[in-house]
This record gives sequence, structure tokens and C-alpha cells, in this order.
Amino acid sequence: MNEERAVSVLISGRGSNLKSLHENRLGYRVKAVLSNRPDAGGLKYAESQGIPTKVLQREHYPNLAAFKAAVLAAAAETEPDLVALAGFMMVLQPEFIEHFYGRLINIHPSLLPQFPGLETHERAVAAKVRHHGCSVHFVDSGVDTGPIIAQSSLELNRADTAHDAAARVLALEHALYPWVLSHLALGGITLSGRTVQYSPEVEREATQRGFLIFPS
Ligand code: GRF
Repeated sequence: MNEERAVSVLISGRGSNLKSLHENRLGYRVKAVLSNRPDAGGLKYAESQGIPTKVLQREHYPNLAAFKAAVLAAAAETEPDLVALAGFMMVLQPEFIEHFYGRLINIHPSLLPQFPGLETHERAVAAKVRHHGCSVHFVDSGVDTGPIIAQSSLELNRADTAHDAAARVLALEHALYPWVLSHLALGGITLSGRTVQYSPEVEREATQRGFLIFPS
């Protein structure tokens, strides 16, 4: 039997990556969406698709530790096989990362290890880098430092503003993220320690699609 993996997606905002993950699902289904913001646009989309949602707000908890513990409990309650961060603007507690290590991925709008953290497009344009793009990586306890699974890149035009770069990179994100998640779900991408391993099929497809992967 070809069972689909259950994925919980954590968001804070508009949810365009959530939409792309859901629309392009293969080997997985989006089982639940969690948000730390009640006004996250992605929540409406999830509801329109019949995906269960849950909102956790910092102000409903006595302190940050209690809030973060609640986020972990809520994610664990959805019993996901995989957890995908998609614009989730919150630093996760170490317990969360330990609990889901190897099953927890994030999409970041830069070619890591360049430009971890925020305002990646502004920094890429200011640095006048030639190549810019996005990365999907396993999450570890650092800020965007986990093992990189795959990247998609483009050449910045001289005239590109940070706004242009964001729009161009977002289109790459929407293709890369579901591709990675599908192969994780189907077992073609695995993590051993901090080493990402790829099946021959994944290596072939990455070449065809112009994605960068990092076989050892
Ligand atoms: C994306 O650029 C993603 O790479 C970053 O946050 C943004 C989220 O956008 N982590 P959306 O909410 O998926 O539209």
C-alpha cells in the first residue's frame, strides 16, 4: 500500500508556500496548519481546503517558555510524519527541534550559508551578488544552519530591487519546496547524522529541474 505521509505546516503569514505545498502534494498530505498569528492569510486558505488549523498566540500564555511548550504540544498532537516551516516567524525551542529532528524542514529565501536570518533580499541586492535564490534545509538549533537539502537559484539583474528579488525567488520557492517534501515523504531524500542522502532518481530529477543538491 502506498501510504501518504502526514505533514503539519507552520506559518505566520500569507501562506503562498503552504498553498504550493498543498497544491503540489505527492506522497504526502497537509494534515494540519498551525499559526502563531490569527491574521495569517494562510489560515483562510487552509480552511478553504478543509485542512484543520490551530492558532497559538503568545499573549495567551503567561511567559515565552509556556507559549513555546504549547507550540510543541500542538504540533505533536497533530501526529505528523514531517513538519514543514513555511514563513514561520518564531524561533523554536530546542525541545521542538530535538523532538522533530530529521523530520523538520524549512524554506529560506537565500542561497545558504549566505544571508541567514531576515531581510535576505535587501542584503543580497546591497551585496550585489550575482546569484540569489532559496534553500530548503533540515532545521537544527541554529538560525538557518541545518543541513541543506536543495537549492534553486537565479541570476539577479542589475536593476532588480529587493522587491523584485523577493518576487522572483518566491516563484522558485514554490517549485522547490513541494519537490523536496515529496522526495522526503517518498524516501528518496534521507538524513544520516548531518549528511543528506539522495536516491539516484532524486539526483536525476534535480539535474533536470536545475535544482542544486549536495551529495556526499
Ligand atoms: C518565504 O519567502 C519563505 O522563504 C520565508 O518566508 C516567506 C513566506 O512566504 N521563510 P509565504 O507565507 O509562504 O507566502
